[in-house]
Amino acid sequence: LIAFPFEKERSAMTQPAIDNLGIPPLAGICTYESGANPGYSVETSVNLLRRYNYLKTQLNLILAAHLPRTPEWEVKCALSLHLWLDAEHAATIRARVAEMREPPLGLDKVPDARLETWLNEVIRAENTVELLIGAYRVARTELIRTLERHLAQTNPLADYPTRRVLRHMLLEEKETLDWGEAALEALDPNGTSAAWETHLRAYLTAAGGLEGNAEVPSVSLPTPRADGRSYDMGSEVRRDARFRDNFNASALIDVYYNDPALSSEERIYALLYKRLREMDVPEWMAPIIFNTKGKPFQYYLDLSRQLWDECRHAMMGEVGLARDGIPFYRYPLDLKSSASLNANFSPLDAHVVLWGIEQSLMARETGKQYEWTIARDGRDDLAATYQDYDWADEVLHAQIGRRWLQSEFADTATMHQYAQEVITRWLEDTKTFAQFSDQKPWWQDFLREARSSRAALERAARNVPEPQALAADD
Ligand SMILES: [Fe+2]
Ligand SMILES: [Fe+2]
Repeated sequence: LIAFPFEKERSAMTQPAIDNLGIPPLAGICTYESGANPGYSVETSVNLLRRYNYLKTQLNLILAAHLPRTPEWEVKCALSLHLWLDAEHAATIRARVAEMREPPLGLDKVPDARLETWLNEVIRAENTVELLIGAYRVARTELIRTLERHLAQTNPLADYPTRRVLRHMLLEEKETLDWGEAALEALDPNGTSAAWETHLRAYLTAAGGLEGNAEVPSVSLPTPRADGRSYDMGSEVRRDARFRDNFNASALIDVYYNDPALSSEERIYALLYKRLREMDVPEWMAPIIFNTKGKPFQYYLDLSRQLWDECRHAMMGEVGLARDGIPFYRYPLDLKSSASLNANFSPLDAHVVLWGIEQSLMARETGKQYEWTIARDGRDDLAATYQDYDWADEVLHAQIGRRWLQSEFADTATMHQYAQEVITRWLEDTKTFAQFSDQKPWWQDFLREARSSRAALERAARNVPEPQALAADD
């Protein structure tokens, strides 16, 4: 039997005397009864969509503003995903608004100054818990409540395309909030930041909620953190206390995977480590997204997607090492790249560096295809899958870079030349970070540990006793 989404509603309604031959009528989307509810006008629906679009584009920026200096790795991972989902949701909302006969679209305008005031407080979170309270518990709970109301109110037949957009968005929004609540439970089990939640809820209430109700209960607003100036995300890059020796660059990972004299096992570990190290790219892309103002929406959508891809690449490294029993934070993960770019380079220059690196990865002999062949020839199926998708992602990234940077330069040759200059300056600048580490070699320790824990895991999987246990029996 096919389960219809409206099955319950169907059986509860008084059936009109219409012969549908036993076939679900109205394409299965609603009943005659719910379809006969007038619901929201086009104008009401569009006004709400404009507000969702504003919230989503602002959440995208708020998460980007906090990503580099949020220390917890797992939070960086989720911020990367969620800021991309926020941009994706904004994209589908914007496309729907454009279909709805209500020009001017005004999708890059602030629809309500009260919402702006609220979000100017949300972005001023001073630590991870405050960020999660504002951008998850307060904002996303309100969004879910509003979406559910919108879905219940708007006409399921007349406004079907909006409902489809909202239903898909709601699904991901609930997963996002679930993650946020679980993370808050872990980071703040005693709810020590209740005052910040109250602060933000007061501003949301004063905004008439996300729906922008005209009648607002009188609330006394706490002193705002915003002081009228635009928010400065700073340039700091942080990692949590599990990570040690963050500027140790003693392992020449890029040399190791390229070296045919080394075992394919070692070369593949170097590739997995190279993936893991990629967390610095979300850290350096987030300020590009946040600090580059006035671009078309597609720019932010493209860069958010790329940011999320780079974070996935880091997580591929995380899983690859976990497979062999090594936690991702055990050995140094050099973060000089993002530390240098964020502190000492403009957003445009940081983007040019990224593009310069990525287009060089397209070379068949040395680039992403070559990395994939190392994993494939080493018969490491997981590493091969990761390199395969990493390669596909990087082709997309080289295109995104070209799309948005080309217009900044007179011609391609000028762009290439400029990229070379900035990359040279950047490599020089990263050297100053080496002094923050004593550069103690660690690669051979890592290899030894990875080999022995991998062997132990393989024995455990085949149910073979540990070598020591055998010796004791003898
Ligand atoms: Fe990448
Ligand atoms: Fe990339």
